[in-house]
Amino acid sequence: MKVLVVGGGGREHALAWKLSQSARVQKVYVAPGNGGTASDSLLVNVAITDHDALADFAAVEKIALTVVGPEAPLAAGIVDLFRSRGLRIFGPTKAAAQLESSKAYAKQFMQRHGIPTARYAEFTDAAKAREYVTSQGAPIVIKADGLAAGKGVVVATTVEEAHTAIDMMLGDPADAGTMPGQARVVIEEFMAGEEASFIVVSDGTHVVPLATSQDHKRIFDGDRGPNTGGMGAYSPAPVVTPNVHARVMQEIILPAIAGMAQEGQPFTGFLYAGLMIDAQGRPRTVEFNARLGDPETQPILMRLKSDLFELLLKAADGQLANVELQWDRRVALGVVMAAAGYPGTPRQGDPITALPAGSDDCQVFHAGTAMQDGRLVTRGGRVLCVTALGESVRLAQQRAYEAVRGVQFAGAQCRSDIGHRAVGRHG
Ligand code: AMP
Ligand code: GLY
Repeated sequence: MKVLVVGGGGREHALAWKLSQSARVQKVYVAPGNGGTASDSLLVNVAITDHDALADFAAVEKIALTVVGPEAPLAAGIVDLFRSRGLRIFGPTKAAAQLESSKAYAKQFMQRHGIPTARYAEFTDAAKAREYVTSQGAPIVIKADGLAAGKGVVVATTVEEAHTAIDMMLGDPADAGTMPGQARVVIEEFMAGEEASFIVVSDGTHVVPLATSQDHKRIFDGDRGPNTGGMGAYSPAPVVTPNVHARVMQEIILPAIAGMAQEGQPFTGFLYAGLMIDAQGRPRTVEFNARLGDPETQPILMRLKSDLFELLLKAADGQLANVELQWDRRVALGVVMAAAGYPGTPRQGDPITALPAGSDDCQVFHAGTAMQDGRLVTRGGRVLCVTALGESVRLAQQRAYEAVRGVQFAGAQCRSDIGHRAVGRHG
């Protein structure tokens, strides 16, 4: 059978790599893919925004299953379009994807279903938002409503900082009237604790959890500096003990899937709960994403022993009851190598040399890469995710960094401490 993966990042490379291992999959196409997906799959030169052209391609090529990586096509309704044309696709509908695309929708949904999360208030008026912040004090979290790729969130440590964020997102009251009236912010209570990524596969009714993971969002060592899409990740997340795992399923995941179904918007797809776990092991939801995490997917799929194609086919067909997955017991850890300038505007076109060949315990997943005149060059912020398996976090970390040292491109930036929290727990 043929599979189409929509997207062009490291997550999509890992999906294509894993899907191509299925005995039932003959060909994996990736649209638009990147400089690395070509080795595991065939590139399709169609933009992820051109849903009609993607559906035409799936129809003509008789694609058995389309898997969507990024949030943007989901939020724009690619699943609804494919389904209306009778094409099998795995992902949430536009309505269900609002769990990610609208923070206000997600917060109201969690409140309706008693899903633990931070207290919040919504504002469209900057003056009222400022007043609210003054009454609540800091630390406090200000979020722009809508997809902002992790950049529309300010964790303000002072009231002044929160006011500045509000002015940036809603417009300074001094020039009221010049901003479009639709902007909205969500202001949240600050939650202390340790974060983890908890991703499940759902067919709308049943749920199969994937292995847990943690990512590092900040650009610099020690989790400092500006937020990025993620500079590295590892699986499993030691903070998710068996007890925490059971609580997350009972208190967050199952009520979310049941709640969406009950509201007539069954969630079929990868549901990603970003968790904050406090010192007592109580999990709360920071956010929902309607997709796999990037770079969490890279270490998660390195550990998956089961057939990913079978899993997603069953999920798309509502057949996930009693499915269980097999996992490699080793730890997987991925280090992102980013281009100069990231997370600002990245420099492009730097040649990449000395890429190690993939092996059983190490894979280099491509993200912002492209082939140019027969040479592999940088073409985006996050360039590669070097992912390795090891018997412990420390060994997986050593193996990944050993491979990272072999990769070269001008201006490469990577953190040297991916996994430090897990190493701290387990040594
Ligand atoms: P989000 O885009 O909602 O995932 O937020 C980005 C990051 O901001 C999260 O990964 C957290 O590190 C942080 N964050 C968001 N909301 C909160 C909160 N209520 N309390 C503490 N940290 C938060
Ligand atoms: N790594 C965080 C995300 O994919 O949202």
